[in-house]
Amino acid sequence: MQRQAPREDFPVPTVFDNTSSPAPKSTIRTRVTDSDSVEIQIADNGPGMPPEVLQKIFDPFFTTKPVGSGTGLGLSVSYQIVVDKHGGRLSCISAPGEGATFAIEIPIEQKK
Ligand SMILES: Nc1ncnc2c1ncn2[C@@H]1O[C@H](COP(=O)(O)OP(=O)(O)OP(=O)(O)O)[C@@H](O)[C@H]1O
Ligand SMILES: [Mg+2]
Repeated sequence: MQRQAPREDFPVPTVFDNTSSPAPKSTIRTRVTDSDSVEIQIADNGPGMPPEVLQKIFDPFFTTKPVGSGTGLGLSVSYQIVVDKHGGRLSCISAPGEGATFAIEIPIEQKK
């Protein structure tokens, strides 16, 4: 393997090279549904997920982050709060390169 000598005059980048991915963007939509729930949709323009990841995202301890940087609990705790505690729904639509859209639906009035 050949090594290149370090160049003293190499320009130090002052901005992060973001040319390969678009500027991060999230879009939040809210609505009242026909079934007297509030729905909050959060869409991002991130990398999205393949189906084999998507089907596990609400599992406790499932993470695709490098070892030591994610607990994999964020979405499973969210699921417990939205679905188990509030009787609502939590879902996600995503595909690779298509971003991800999460939908949180919570009943306006708690069932007694
Ligand atoms: N907006 C998103 N776009 C693409 N993948 C996502 C998105 N949100 C979650 N995921 C996928 O779902 C996995 C589980 O998410 P979750 O929030 O439960 O854990 P985590 O983010 O990996 O860890 P932690 O929440 O502890 O930082 C992530 O590792 C990632 O693979
Ligand atoms: Mg998380």
